[in-house]
Amino acid sequence: MPSIQAPRGAPDILPPRSGTYERVVRRCEDLFRAYGYRRIETPAFEHTEVFERGLEAGSDIVVKEMYTFADRKGRSLTLRPEGTAPIVRAVIDHGLDRGSLPIKLYYTASMFRYERPQAGRQRAFLQVGVEALGSPGPEIDAEVVELGAAALRAMGLSAVNLHLNSIGHPVCRGRYLPELVGFLEERRSELCGDCRRKVTTNPLRTFDCKVERDREVMRHAPRITDYLCAECRGHFDDLQGLLGDLGVAFTLDPRLVRGLDYYTRTTFSFVAAGLGAQNELGGGGRYDGLSEQLGGGPLPGIGFALGVDRIALALEGQGEPSPGGLDVFVVTDGQAACSGALLLASKLRADGLSVDLDYTGRGLKGQFRAADRAGARRVVVVGDPEASTLTVRNMATGEEAEVPAQELGAHLRGGG
Ligand code: HAM
Repeated sequence: MPSIQAPRGAPDILPPRSGTYERVVRRCEDLFRAYGYRRIETPAFEHTEVFERGLEAGSDIVVKEMYTFADRKGRSLTLRPEGTAPIVRAVIDHGLDRGSLPIKLYYTASMFRYERPQAGRQRAFLQVGVEALGSPGPEIDAEVVELGAAALRAMGLSAVNLHLNSIGHPVCRGRYLPELVGFLEERRSELCGDCRRKVTTNPLRTFDCKVERDREVMRHAPRITDYLCAECRGHFDDLQGLLGDLGVAFTLDPRLVRGLDYYTRTTFSFVAAGLGAQNELGGGGRYDGLSEQLGGGPLPGIGFALGVDRIALALEGQGEPSPGGLDVFVVTDGQAACSGALLLASKLRADGLSVDLDYTGRGLKGQFRAADRAGARRVVVVGDPEASTLTVRNMATGEEAEVPAQELGAHLRGGG
């Protein structure tokens, strides 16, 4: 029978790469908690309406990219393409907005989009993100943007640029859009087919086009920031001032509208140098109207999501070794020592060390090779059960030491 492979665009993440994912997620989650965010889990699928109403029925994700299916009772469900609309749905559903505000939540979750797979773009991918609901900002905007920048910095990523924009609220956009459409109509013959369609369906999305000729045209397009009302302008100016105070460097990018239709005012994006077309490591923005679109009361919100797959690619591109390895590999010198090795491994694990040993009956040499492959920092040799000392080899230096049995845990924990 032919073997079965994973669906296209839905890769298995295997060791050692999975170790990089794990480290990225852990560092982000630690930081999110340090900023006062608490975890939320929402289901991997939702009623399709959550996305049709939240992301707007005409948006690219809803029209082209959703994994939508009917369940056995004929209800339309959709695998989540993003995490923000489901979280707002859950907040309304459980009345969290009637409690103390802001509500600060974080998540680590797989997202599903029917996109054309390429390096850094998959159909199933992992995001970590935060959402802060209940405060109109700009202080919370500054915190959220700074948290995103801090998370990427904590990963040791160099050459990440923060792009920042404000796209105003619907009234500002109502004044701006006719100007943009007028410009696009004038330059229509220079636009790709997709953008020509967007002139009527969703003109802001023409800023997302990757075709170089279109991008050149869009460099001359009217800027949303020139159409902001006094309140939105003030919000944006205050945010920039706060980011300056926090020492967060950013580039103003009036073309940054981002690919989701719920955004209002602040939008931002973290872009890596040298990652090819899919160079956005993460991004987010404010979504002050989303709660009402989903049937809730007024509830302003802001958040971001980081793409774990793209961050892992960027780290690998920097030559970062995949983390992994073990504190200790226990090697047995002779059959009689096997149960002693098992017992020792169990004790050391209970002591908080990561420990493994060979279960395939290899000889001493083979066990040392296995220790090397496992990335073990130390090897402990278990031989004569009566012996009062054990041999510990430092795998990096090759040095060996005889360590009294009762001092072994302390010796290994101390990095000896
Ligand atoms: P997004 O820009 O659609 O925003 O996705 C955020 C990040 O997820 C992207 O910057 C990218 O790193 C990663 N990503 C997106 N699509 C793919 C893909 N097909 N393959 C691999 N990685 C991908 C959101 O999802 C919003 N929910 C963010 C947000 C939170 N806004 C407010 N709060």
